[in-house]
Amino acid sequence: MKGKRIPRLKGNTIFSSGNGLRKNPLNFLIEKDKAYPGILHWKFLHLDVVQLTDPKLVRFVLQTNQKYYVKSTMYNQLKLLLGQGLVTSEGKLWKSQRKMIQPSFHKQHINNLFDEMLSCTNELIMDWKEAAQKGGKIDFADEMMKITLQIIGKTMLSADFRTEAKSVGVTLTYLLKALEKRVLRGVNFPIWVPTAANLEFKRKRKVLDDIVYKVIGDRRERGHAKGDLLDMLMESRYEDTGEAMPDNLLRDELMTVFLAGHETTATALTWTFYLLSKHPDVYQKLKKEVKEVVGDGELTFQHLHQLKYTKACLNESMRLFPPVWVIGRGATEDNMVGDYFIKKGTTVLMSPYIVHRHPDYWKNPEVFEPERWETEEVKEMDKYAYFPFAAGPRMCIGNNFALLEADIILTKVIQQFDFKYLGESEPVMDPTLTLRVKEGMPMQIRSLI
Ligand code: HEM
Repeated sequence: MKGKRIPRLKGNTIFSSGNGLRKNPLNFLIEKDKAYPGILHWKFLHLDVVQLTDPKLVRFVLQTNQKYYVKSTMYNQLKLLLGQGLVTSEGKLWKSQRKMIQPSFHKQHINNLFDEMLSCTNELIMDWKEAAQKGGKIDFADEMMKITLQIIGKTMLSADFRTEAKSVGVTLTYLLKALEKRVLRGVNFPIWVPTAANLEFKRKRKVLDDIVYKVIGDRRERGHAKGDLLDMLMESRYEDTGEAMPDNLLRDELMTVFLAGHETTATALTWTFYLLSKHPDVYQKLKKEVKEVVGDGELTFQHLHQLKYTKACLNESMRLFPPVWVIGRGATEDNMVGDYFIKKGTTVLMSPYIVHRHPDYWKNPEVFEPERWETEEVKEMDKYAYFPFAAGPRMCIGNNFALLEADIILTKVIQQFDFKYLGESEPVMDPTLTLRVKEGMPMQIRSLI
């Protein structure tokens, strides 16, 4: 196999990229792409890394040649938390698990969760009304984590996580930071070595394990028949062996849905509210849409089809702040990505953050402009210039779930409250495994109805 030579980063030593990545991973990738647009090869410790920002090349890795790729080695660290769940598993195991779980995420099934999602959101609205009477200062980052956790718990596991929300938030922040450090360090003590950091990691992981095992234990005790994801996983049998899912895999799948199913959507909503608070024109237009479609009454499923600008705001917010800001794959075979030869063993990094803000593909890329989603130009552009949920067979299984709950939460908050950003400076991005906000998103809310 012969192909065009991939440009190599000049002056790159096995340590220099590590320093750049540790200091500011987003800047590191952006600067490199500016110097070598589209595709670039660099070294990170023992790894050969190819960074792709050309949507045509991204398509090769995520779709056309996907059979030559697995998740990259950075996902090995994530396995310490998610085990062999859907995000981190591969091959036959991934295929059979995805087949088993897919029906719970079918669009029709997700649409049936509307009432439950709305009811959780209404509880949040009641809490905020009380908070509004007491001064109305709240942290949207925390609140979005709380509501998305509650929704995933209620809809998929029929569990109420309101009392656990605070400890889940703190624990998850710790665990994600620890995993990020392990990824960037490259070389780590195996988790069984009793270093202080490893012991603390395991202690924190147990907090989440206890929650998940309690959900499983309660269901075993009280019996099935909730018709949720947990029932489905417990009752399913593998086609080839006829056996039920073993407990360790059940734990891994539940932990995966529990975490992947709330952290990402919460991040998307937090940035959306921030962008709205900074763009009064967009905010007013959105309020007008909600007023015209929903009025002061209760939101219904039918309203959602008419809330076009609401959807455009969410699309636009995930363009500027994609919750999963980088996606990594490892080549299992030599293969051609467009005209370029990718050697077996190469790590390929694709960053939605960089592609979504790339001036070659987007007009006024840094500007928050939901109107662009109504233009022909965006409708006709390369599908791989916008991939917040990834693409191909490993595309996010929860995209319809996330979009439905985000529509509901955004619409209800816009209908019921005014909000204003209270931070003294701009919020800072914290690109751990997701694109979190560094020190919360303080807002002042005021009740409208
Ligand atoms: C705005 C919200 C969300 C975003 C931006 C998002 C993004 C993504 C992305 C980019 C991937 C692919 C990762 C990769 O290939 O490396 C992914 C996978 C996944 N997501 Fe999401 N996600 C969101 C919400 C959700 C929700 C609500 C759930 C579950 C309820 C979920 C469950 C999963 C699972 C299980 C996978 C692994 C799928 C597989 O490999 O078969 N996600 N997500």
